[in-house]
Amino acid sequence: MPGAIHAEGLVKTFGDVRALDGVDLDVPEGTVLGLLGPNGAGKTTAVRCLTTLLTPDSGKATVAGIDVLKHPNEVRRSIGLSGQFAAVDEYLTGRENLQMVGQLYQMRAKAAKARAAELLERFGLADAADRPAKTYSGGMRRRLDLAAALIVSPPVMFMDEPTTGLDPRNRQSLWDVIQELVAGGTTLLLTTQYLEEADKLAHDICVVDHGRVIARGTSDQLKAQTGGERVEVVVHERDHMATARQVLAGFGKGETTVEEHTRKLTVPVTGGAKLLAEVIRELDARGIEIDDIGLRRPTLDDVFISLTGHVAEETGPTAGTEGADEATTSAPSAKEAGK
Ligand SMILES: Nc1ncnc2c1ncn2[C@@H]1O[C@H](COP(=O)(O)OP(=O)(O)O)[C@@H](O)[C@H]1O
Ligand SMILES: [Mg+2]
Repeated sequence: MPGAIHAEGLVKTFGDVRALDGVDLDVPEGTVLGLLGPNGAGKTTAVRCLTTLLTPDSGKATVAGIDVLKHPNEVRRSIGLSGQFAAVDEYLTGRENLQMVGQLYQMRAKAAKARAAELLERFGLADAADRPAKTYSGGMRRRLDLAAALIVSPPVMFMDEPTTGLDPRNRQSLWDVIQELVAGGTTLLLTTQYLEEADKLAHDICVVDHGRVIARGTSDQLKAQTGGERVEVVVHERDHMATARQVLAGFGKGETTVEEHTRKLTVPVTGGAKLLAEVIRELDARGIEIDDIGLRRPTLDDVFISLTGHVAEETGPTAGTEGADEATTSAPSAKEAGK
């Protein structure tokens, strides 16, 4: 039986760009699918096709069992989508906006009121709840928009990079609300550039690049496929990073990744503790002082790097001050890291 969200062979082109190049997806009811991919991979296009905002060139999709192409209006009634439908009314207060959404979805007034108050509290908007939305900052609007999407619990929800630009506390609140909804049976397709988020929330993960699904599975399955352990070294002096990199390259089974600001180098290896001891001796012999060194299992970041050849976005989680939706996710062309 197809899942609550199901797509086969979705293709969408924009001129020469094949934003979706034959995407298949299936999200079983009551589960979360994390759609991961670098900028320009096609995540937003997939969400827009599945939520009836774009018509694919070919392929088919159902949401909650309803054909997306044949019955878009019915699909819209059974989904929630952050950042798109929930147009915030500037002249209403935050609270009124949320209560209005509840009423649009035929919630009882009392229930809408209670849910609005709860979400305003959870997203740090309680103090501003009774001010018109036009007085809100970009970050506050974004949170109001998310709250609006969460007022009702539609059977199927889509969230396109919901936590981009949220500060850690609001991100945690959103994760909590999402987990509660899913525990209540909601099916969710979530795109994210934070791999930790996918690790935490998603039952299944699809990695997309250039409009294609290049890997899928649970977080554990993907990590197992990526295989091997990593040696992770933090060198004491920035000036030693280049030499340390050479040393690691000599032991590694793959590319060394370097995180400049934390002076951390990571390389996939085989050989466990014995190899670790050799690495330490070699670093020592070259006079490289280290702050920390260890062996660790691959993370979802490693999976991502090994699949796509580059790291996921590194935009820091800063409180957004710009517009609600994609201001923080504008897509420069997907770059291939030279390999
Ligand atoms: N409306 C559009 N017109 C032209 N090109 C588009 C449009 N929307 C998306 N694209 C292109 O399609 C590709 C996929 O974009 P998108 O789905 O936004 O990726 P992601 O959300 O993964 O960053 C990119 O190359 C992007 O530039
Ligand atoms: Mg996008």
